[in-house]
Amino acid sequence: MHLGLDLGTSSIKGLLIDDNQAIIAEATAPMAVSRPQDGWSEQDPAEWVRGAESVLASLAQKTDLSKLVSIGLSGHMHGATLIDKNDNVLRPCILWNDTRSHVEAAEMDSDSEFRDVSGNIVFPGFTAPKVAWVKNNEPEIFKQIAKVLLPKDYLRLWLTGGHVAEMSDAAGTSWLDTAKRDWSDNLLQKTGLTRDQMPSLVEGSEVSGTLRPALCQQYGITQEVVVAGGGGDNAASGIGVGVANAGDAFVSLGTSGVLFAASDGYAPDPASAVHTFCHALPKTWHQMGVILSATDSLNWYAKLVGHDAAALTNALGELEAPAKTLFMPYLGGERTPHNDASVRGAFIGLEHATDTNAGTRAVLEGVVHAFRDSFDALTSTGTKIERIMAVGGGSKSAYWLSALATSLQMPIDVPVAGDFGGALGAARLGMMAAGAEQDIVTRPDVAQTIEPSRQLEGAFADAHQRYREAYQSIRNLT
Ligand code: XUL
Repeated sequence: MHLGLDLGTSSIKGLLIDDNQAIIAEATAPMAVSRPQDGWSEQDPAEWVRGAESVLASLAQKTDLSKLVSIGLSGHMHGATLIDKNDNVLRPCILWNDTRSHVEAAEMDSDSEFRDVSGNIVFPGFTAPKVAWVKNNEPEIFKQIAKVLLPKDYLRLWLTGGHVAEMSDAAGTSWLDTAKRDWSDNLLQKTGLTRDQMPSLVEGSEVSGTLRPALCQQYGITQEVVVAGGGGDNAASGIGVGVANAGDAFVSLGTSGVLFAASDGYAPDPASAVHTFCHALPKTWHQMGVILSATDSLNWYAKLVGHDAAALTNALGELEAPAKTLFMPYLGGERTPHNDASVRGAFIGLEHATDTNAGTRAVLEGVVHAFRDSFDALTSTGTKIERIMAVGGGSKSAYWLSALATSLQMPIDVPVAGDFGGALGAARLGMMAAGAEQDIVTRPDVAQTIEPSRQLEGAFADAHQRYREAYQSIRNLT
């Protein structure tokens, strides 16, 4: 029995599978984000542990955990979890969608060594500029940092007692030499840190430690339980949907919107604002475009108009040509392709006839246009995308997927009912750490392929062009 534990921004999920990857049980617990100031986004690491405890407790109610042999971890990336020499958390974790450190990020990014070695722009959402922000604004905390951990690696500390990270998540810190798959002493030193303050590194499919005796005892486990390196949530989702070879891609319509493509080798192109990270399997890399507010935009709008998000999307009929109203989904700034922490969202072209449905369509279309931007950025680097699978909560909306397929002018595969995201990927990485071969990383069966509407492709391309121009008009307004 293998457990995949996926720490998401809005919930933590546990998925138990058997040796044939059949699902035994699953459980989730909600997670909240606190936004003390505009552009800030934080979580208390103690909540992650409470969430993991609650997930394990409900799994234990559903099935006997004593047969557990491996655990794999997946989690939202880039968060700066700062701990002191006694492993106490020094401040709330600053999350991936927090852009407060844009000044520090721009300063680091102006030193070309960061892009050269890490293969990426130093985005404000990445870990190193956040720690630089702490150094500048909370020097007393900075002085006490004994280790900087990524969110899922804090859960690993709780599970195993060890300070360990893995390559896919470490690549999103701006401290990793992404080609060499090792920390860069130079980049660390430029931010006032040393390798001693970093966790040790393993590959996602390697063993990172074993489950603590107290936890084994609690669940009646007598055998050793290996904890795999796991992956950042996107790399782990890639493993879950079998996206590991060049040409394969997936879109994730979650809190963030991600277009993820596996690549042949390490081929960074920081200027495109595409992310080039290690994948969760040894000697593999991937690229992705990242949108900061995907389902977050829809949820924001649903709250605004006092409806349930699913009810709003269900109320839409067949795909229509984009209307005049444009929504710019930049509620907390944007990463790909703009790297713009200060731009904010907008509705443009409101008219008397704009009703709730028109607003919903505009929000979905805005996110679709943002995906088109990421698609253009990815393909501009030479990355080939031959097929795309959709994952994440937003992929339940047929309208959204239809609009996306039409805008990208590519069919989108929807997997059969099941669970193919980060939790399955994490569980698969756990299986590999326990001895399984890489051939367990298969693609799920396809339940449905959403074809682009050839009739509406031109209208979506025109609307995307307006969207690009609208960004130029609003970028300096905020
Ligand atoms: C990726 C990113 C997000 C988070 C949250 O770079 O910031 O996708 O991992 O899911």
